[in-house]
Amino acid sequence: MRYICPRRNRGRQGRTVFIDEANSGRLGIVVLAAGKGARMNSARPKVMHEVAGRPMLAHALAAAEALAPARVTVVAGPGMAEAEALAAPHGCVVQQARRGTADAVECARARHECLGGDVLVLYGDTPLIAPATLQRALERRRADDDPAVVALGFRADDPADYGRLRVDADGGLAEIVEAADADAESAAIRLCNSGIMVFDGAALWALIRRVGADNAKGERYLTDIAALARAEGRACAVVEASARELMGVNTRAGLAAVERAAQEALRARAMENGVTLLQPESVHFSFDTALGRDVTVEPNVFFGPGVEVAEGAAIRAFSHLEGARVGRGATVGPFARLRPGAALGEGARVGNFVEVKAAELAAGAKANHLAYIGDARVGRGANIGAGTITCNYDGFRKHRTEIGDGAFVGSNAALVAPVSVGDGAIIGAGSVVSRDVPADALAVTRAPQRAVAGGAARFRGARSG
Ligand code: UD1
Ligand code: CA
Repeated sequence: MRYICPRRNRGRQGRTVFIDEANSGRLGIVVLAAGKGARMNSARPKVMHEVAGRPMLAHALAAAEALAPARVTVVAGPGMAEAEALAAPHGCVVQQARRGTADAVECARARHECLGGDVLVLYGDTPLIAPATLQRALERRRADDDPAVVALGFRADDPADYGRLRVDADGGLAEIVEAADADAESAAIRLCNSGIMVFDGAALWALIRRVGADNAKGERYLTDIAALARAEGRACAVVEASARELMGVNTRAGLAAVERAAQEALRARAMENGVTLLQPESVHFSFDTALGRDVTVEPNVFFGPGVEVAEGAAIRAFSHLEGARVGRGATVGPFARLRPGAALGEGARVGNFVEVKAAELAAGAKANHLAYIGDARVGRGANIGAGTITCNYDGFRKHRTEIGDGAFVGSNAALVAPVSVGDGAIIGAGSVVSRDVPADALAVTRAPQRAVAGGAARFRGARSG
């Protein structure tokens, strides 16, 4: 057999990669993602549903990449363009008809048999798997008894739909029995199959041809390989991990359960990193939320993907952040919204009912109440008054607003972009600013005020008479 040296996969940015020479040479990873997930009752493929702000398939891929494998292949279903795009830069093959997990793995044969090493099969619907657990399974696969199959299992009080792992007296894996095919004795087994398995590649590719579909679902079960390997005299093994890490998603309720577990883990990690969460269970994180030490997060805060908060900042109650950077000691909220591209400098303040999008507020800048700042830069120490709006959109295109250091924008100003306000300039309250304001100038566009003596009394008289 020809051995093609595979291109090394590029890891996604900022990810821990297990530096394990034993993996990088010959480990192949196949991620099964072709199932439609009928029980999700969704127009989207199951693996594209999100957990902690990214698709379940992306979680599985991140775990795969952390092992620095030689090759990763996603098995997608027909018409799953989004999943194929997500799989890049890895390979993606399409399983034309859903004939079972063994059939799905066979779709990747051409890309993996030639590698000659171990094959790790991940399921796109099991997103909480930790790379360290996968590494344990890989190490078990390389143990002296040379098991042909290592299944990752967990114990559950209610094993529900999971396949059951039958172990023999010496703890070896004898067989995997699918829930649909289990007799009462097998159904009583509490040791569940997560679906994640490591195979000796040579054994996998030899035995998988023999997997039939004579079972309750009429599908070719990958899990049948264990019994086939045992019949050939090969050892098979189980590595146990926690149920919460190995939870699979089949339904919306299952998705919610996995999300809950993901959030609990993210909250725990934040607190270990020195973050104060006043009411942890009310804070929603994304997989990549990065909070510095001594950050305080008040109740009911939502972190979408791509948020970084530096040391000592305070995120006050009911704020919504996504794609935003918050500098040291800055304050956000209560009731603030930071949209993608928002960047707050050290000590900046964004208060209640303020929305910031694609805009930088430099160090010490303040927008404390009721404002929209979009496509803009607000200079150091500048003050944005209540009700100020950067009018960034003319119905066709977006335009920028530049506000200089130390500028003072009075309440309820409309800054009609493209426009700039120079350093130290002052904008009178209620002004509509459509031309650039030089540094240190005072700009007011207010209509002159008139006071008609006795006018109010005359008005009332006319109405009531
Ligand atoms: C599978 C396991 C079961 C395990 C459970 C854990 C088999 C036969 N059974 O059952 O032992 O306890 O996972 O969650 O493997 N898929 C394809 N092509 C197919 C069928 C499935 O790509 O033809 C993919 C799905 O997208 C999914 C994964 O394989 O990511 C598992 O498929 P699913 O139908 O959810 O399997 P289970 O019945 O849950
Ligand atoms: Ca499943």
